[in-house]
Amino acid sequence: MADIVIDVRELRKTYRTPFRRKKVEALRGISFTVERGHIFGFVGPNGAGKTTTIRTLMGLIRPSGGTATILGHQIPSRTARSHVGFLPESPYFYDYLTIGELLDLAGRLFGIDRVERKRRADALIDRVGLDRARSQSLKKFSKGMLQRAGLAQALMNDPELVVLDEPTSGLDPIGRKEVRDLILELRDQGKTVFFSSHILTDIEAIADRVAIVARGSLQSLGTPAELVKRTVLGIDVKVRISDDADIAALSNSGSHVRRTAGELAVTLSADADLEAWLEIAHAAGAKIVSIEPRHETLEDLFMRQIAGADASAGATDGRV
Ligand SMILES: Nc1ncnc2c1ncn2[C@@H]1O[C@H](COP(=O)(O)OP(=O)(O)O)[C@@H](O)[C@H]1O
Ligand SMILES: [Mg+2]
Repeated sequence: MADIVIDVRELRKTYRTPFRRKKVEALRGISFTVERGHIFGFVGPNGAGKTTTIRTLMGLIRPSGGTATILGHQIPSRTARSHVGFLPESPYFYDYLTIGELLDLAGRLFGIDRVERKRRADALIDRVGLDRARSQSLKKFSKGMLQRAGLAQALMNDPELVVLDEPTSGLDPIGRKEVRDLILELRDQGKTVFFSSHILTDIEAIADRVAIVARGSLQSLGTPAELVKRTVLGIDVKVRISDDADIAALSNSGSHVRRTAGELAVTLSADADLEAWLEIAHAAGAKIVSIEPRHETLEDLFMRQIAGADASAGATDGRV
């Protein structure tokens, strides 16, 4: 059996606002497991319940129902916590510290001795590319630099499991790529990474498994490839053709017909007779450039499921 690092069963959380009458069902019974050595992507729109799930796993809030274990320990667990690196959603750092001081502080909280603290801090500062910002205080750091400082801080205890809440939020495309590369590097070192994002492309590119969450419920769970239905939505065919060729017969059988200089692009329906179409094209003097099946993308699936969750939640806006 696979080694399970996070095991979440029927987790529920209802927030009660001070005005008692309003309850928010942030988690409506979420279950999933995360295997050791995996990058697990937790994706969903704002308000889906990602941060609530993560804060519950980190022992920061109490669930209203359900159970969860981290590294085999029931939450909340101090023992488990000491083997977990955590980057909160909007980390707050004392902004008069330098990166070295921030990491030293994090190391002390984990009871790491002075020599080892220095060794780890130096290595991590290098690794997240903040070497040249060593003497600056954190208040001079850009959003991207702060995010990298937060990542370094989360790695000071050399964790088995790294939990990152929206590590790429607020970053430009280069910053996002850097964070993704760092996550891949962590997996290469044998660590397990659980990270959330509302940006699907961040997760699609690197995750071994993905959970899509909306309105406090899991919409789907699986590898990126499993989640995308391998149904063929259509067949994109592109042919080279002379400008005076008669293309009526070719165009009629397809949709999305585009004719550009010397080229004709047609999308045939999934059940179209491709062979017959190619014969007509050949007779008209066309040369095939490309034939590509069009599949549903993870983005298509994501949009479909969020729309579905909205429809089933009706106008309650997650409140009961
Ligand atoms: N402390 C809180 N008190 C009341 N409602 C909250 C609290 N924190 C989050 N919520 C609500 O719970 C739902 C899920 O929020 P959250 O877990 O932050 O989602 P996400 O991280 O996916 O954006 C939202 O409707 C949010 O408004
Ligand atoms: Mg959040």
